[in-house]
Amino acid sequence: MQPIISIKGLTKTYAGGFQALKDVDLAINKGEIFALLGPNGAGKTTLINIVCGIVNMSSGAVLVDGHDIVSEFRETRAKIGLVPQELPTETFETVWNTASFSRGLFGKGAGPQHVEKVLKSLSLWDKKDTISMALSGGMKRRVLIAKALAHEPEILFLDEPTAGVDVELRQDMWNVVKALREEGVTVILTTHYIEEAEQLADRVGVINHGEIILVEEKNKLMREMGKKELMLHLYDELAEIPAQFGNYDLELSEDRRELTYRYDTKGEHTGITDLINELRNAGIRFNDLQTSQSSLEDIFVDLVNKGQ
Ligand SMILES: Nc1ncnc2c1ncn2[C@@H]1O[C@H](COP(=O)(O)OP(=O)(O)OP(=O)(O)O)[C@@H](O)[C@H]1O
Ligand SMILES: [Mg+2]
Repeated sequence: MQPIISIKGLTKTYAGGFQALKDVDLAINKGEIFALLGPNGAGKTTLINIVCGIVNMSSGAVLVDGHDIVSEFRETRAKIGLVPQELPTETFETVWNTASFSRGLFGKGAGPQHVEKVLKSLSLWDKKDTISMALSGGMKRRVLIAKALAHEPEILFLDEPTAGVDVELRQDMWNVVKALREEGVTVILTTHYIEEAEQLADRVGVINHGEIILVEEKNKLMREMGKKELMLHLYDELAEIPAQFGNYDLELSEDRRELTYRYDTKGEHTGITDLINELRNAGIRFNDLQTSQSSLEDIFVDLVNKGQ
């Protein structure tokens, strides 16, 4: 299948000489939710802004639905909705007009029913006649999302849409994204709330220092890079881990009453049964046990730290 966005050999060097993107290759599939993760300054916004035609690339090629973003800018831009990271300057327009005018910008006729649907999905309907300036920060962000959706884009970029917003907007936003997926819209999202990516994304890309260091299906990533932990609450304090357990990845808590065993989720053989038998034979008793699995956040932090 032809990707809906194809990025090849993309580099960006800013005027001061700083190289923000280094030879980036990335293909986004139609209809997927792709989370682009990376620390501050990694190049996420630069990448998004290039695809949206806000920043010029230094070299490389980007196709959107088969069209070149430079030579066929109007066609490609009309397919894209962008919710920028920075709130733009204040406007005196009402919420309704802000969303409606955006359709005209991209060559779409008035679509009051669509605008109504979008405003309602973002709980903005009762604010439709309020001027954007008079809204709170979180409400302004809702307006930005409404504006990006007003012209019915096939592709939606969300550059940290939930930075500094309350739980309710985050939930609204997640529901909007899920509904868009049902409609076949492709969504590319950056976020520092890794849990958001864990909830929403089909695939995850990690960018660090302007380089894409990993692209993987989220489920596969969590299965293959995730670690599980088994926590055993000991009956008696344990002075130290006996030498015979040297083959197990074990850690004793400071209060000496909790033993943590880390194991791979990939391996067929977890070693738990053997460990428990050996503990019993060594007379180490426990009164409770629980397991936990590493989150996408743990995996992300590992990946980025490795690349430092
Ligand atoms: N206009 C500019 N001129 C010079 N350097 C810039 C410019 N815009 C961004 N940069 C630099 O390029 C790098 C990447 O910035 P970018 O905004 O793409 O990062 P980001 O991954 O979106 O970070 P954040 O998570 O903080 O939003 C940073 O080091 C930044 O300082
Ligand atoms: Mg950014």
